[in-house]
Amino acid sequence: MKEVLSKLKHEALEQIKEIKTLINLEDIRVTYLSKKGHISLMMGKLRELPNEERPSFGQMVNSVKQEVELAIYNKKQMLEEKALLETLKNEHIDPTLDGYLYYQGSTHPLNQVIQDVEDLFVGMGYTVEEGPELENDLYNFEMMNLDKDHPARDMQDTFFIDDTMLLRTHTSPVQARTMLKMKGKPLSIICPGKVYRRDDDDPTHSHQFMQIEGLVIDTNITFAHLKDALLTMCQHLFGHDREIRLRPSYFPFTEPSVEVDVSYIKKDGTKGYIEILGAGLVHPNVLKMGGYDPKVYKGYAFGIGVERIAILKYKIDDIRHFYMNDIRFLNQFKGVDKS
Ligand code: PHE
Repeated sequence: MKEVLSKLKHEALEQIKEIKTLINLEDIRVTYLSKKGHISLMMGKLRELPNEERPSFGQMVNSVKQEVELAIYNKKQMLEEKALLETLKNEHIDPTLDGYLYYQGSTHPLNQVIQDVEDLFVGMGYTVEEGPELENDLYNFEMMNLDKDHPARDMQDTFFIDDTMLLRTHTSPVQARTMLKMKGKPLSIICPGKVYRRDDDDPTHSHQFMQIEGLVIDTNITFAHLKDALLTMCQHLFGHDREIRLRPSYFPFTEPSVEVDVSYIKKDGTKGYIEILGAGLVHPNVLKMGGYDPKVYKGYAFGIGVERIAILKYKIDDIRHFYMNDIRFLNQFKGVDKS
């Protein structure tokens, strides 16, 4: 039996020596060492031996196994190294060749503006709230103090899906939803998002655009707080030398309401103003419907068009550029991206 085993060993070692490829080496491993391999099967022969010979034969089988395993391991290393050297010899790497230029996208200019405004307000303790674009009339209009037959609904003509559902005309419904969620507790939020109005598209009008609205409700809010928030935002967006001008205006959800203009220097060196947003103190009815007692709580709100900011900031001549997905337009905003 021992002779058979040592014959097997020599046979295996001989074959390993001769082998030239990794695949053949694996064949040998299977032939001798797998569960049903020649050497492994020798263990089964133990039973045929007299008791006293079994331990020494068992040890012998194990040591043969180890020897063959080691031979296979060494041969494997050798073959792998040879293969590597072969590849290195045949492959020429030219380090002077240009690399591939991978196309990398960038943040859309409108999202850059939103991120910029979010950064500013989050830094001042506001949180960012979002809501659905398909809205209920209740949140979009009624809770904003615009009853079903309120004439000011004409200012925000929109797309109705059925009698109650519509594409939101502003992000104010997010304010209504948040007021209800906060259950009468003070809040400071900004609500960025896409809004829709029925409009004929041209260089300055789009039936779809982006807004950022802000709402702050607390016990001690005055008009001065609103003015400060507006000035901070305008200077952050357009430069610290800018001034703002407030003009009386009308929104059903704020009272008093203002239109906000930001200053700029005209080509002839004189100062001009350009209208950029609407704002006001939250109307008592809106507070009441949102679950706040208007005798205790006051609030301010503002709404700004994201396209309007981007158009002014980057001197864009047609609002439709934002939605056309023209790579030549979008590529111009790569460097501007701060994110
Ligand atoms: N929701 C207004 C609009 O879209 C903007 C606005 C918000 C005005 C808050 C005043 C106060 O026209």
